[in-house]
Amino acid sequence: MDNRAIGVFDSGLGGLTTVRELRKLLPDERIVYFGDTGRVPYGNRSRETIRKYAMQDIRFLKRHEVKLVIAACGTVSSALTPELSAEAGVPFSGVVVPAAQAACAATVNGRIGVIGTTATVRSGAYGRAIRTINPDARTFGNACPLFVPLVENGFIEPDNEITAKVAEIYLKPMIDERVDTLILGCTHYPLIYDIIDRALGSRVTLIDAGKQVARWAQGYLAREDLLAGPGGGGTEFYVSDSPDGFSEIAGLFLGGDVKGDVTQIDLDT
Ligand code: SIN
Repeated sequence: MDNRAIGVFDSGLGGLTTVRELRKLLPDERIVYFGDTGRVPYGNRSRETIRKYAMQDIRFLKRHEVKLVIAACGTVSSALTPELSAEAGVPFSGVVVPAAQAACAATVNGRIGVIGTTATVRSGAYGRAIRTINPDARTFGNACPLFVPLVENGFIEPDNEITAKVAEIYLKPMIDERVDTLILGCTHYPLIYDIIDRALGSRVTLIDAGKQVARWAQGYLAREDLLAGPGGGGTEFYVSDSPDGFSEIAGLFLGGDVKGDVTQIDLDT
């Protein structure tokens, strides 16, 4: 038994979709969440900058004596090499490998689509992870940069015509390439799951990367005998910009009321 917290970080508040999944699967775990709201989004930054930010985020979480760090951010997960992850000096996972494993298990025709930020798709990280698992699989990436601002601005109702139109345009190449499985490689996309599903004619298996890393964490903690004892769950929230309006936006990603304190921190101190 190990009652230390799980550290989760993201460029902003989108990573709370992963926290939601962790809470469902591991209600006794304490979670320390850091959202780099002062520097969001990461998705259009250079690989060097993303790596620098990620290492600072990990360093902050390590100060909380965490037993595991999860990068919920698709952009960070795609930019970190295994060497850099090892440098973190704490058990660590991004979302890429768990999502790639789930996609390889789900595909029937071996044609897997990946959508994410420009940095995620440009990195080719999902393609590499998928080919390691199934060398015959083919991957097709498409960056969907408008999805993040649409979600952040609340354009998420299943019948939202603007988001539906954007999804239709972004996802047409996936239909043309006959993918049967699509990885949602960005924290924000689960919030428009129904719109994406509809744009694909409900014929494609959608893989929510946040859900997959939560499942991976559950298995990892059980295997390593690191699960927390009963009754200790809860989430502490840290952000790098003003926490004003936090509850409202966080509630969107967590799918309910936000319970837990939110603290603004300065990564330079
Ligand atoms: C971003 O930081 O641009 C969006 C979050 C993500 O990549 O998952």
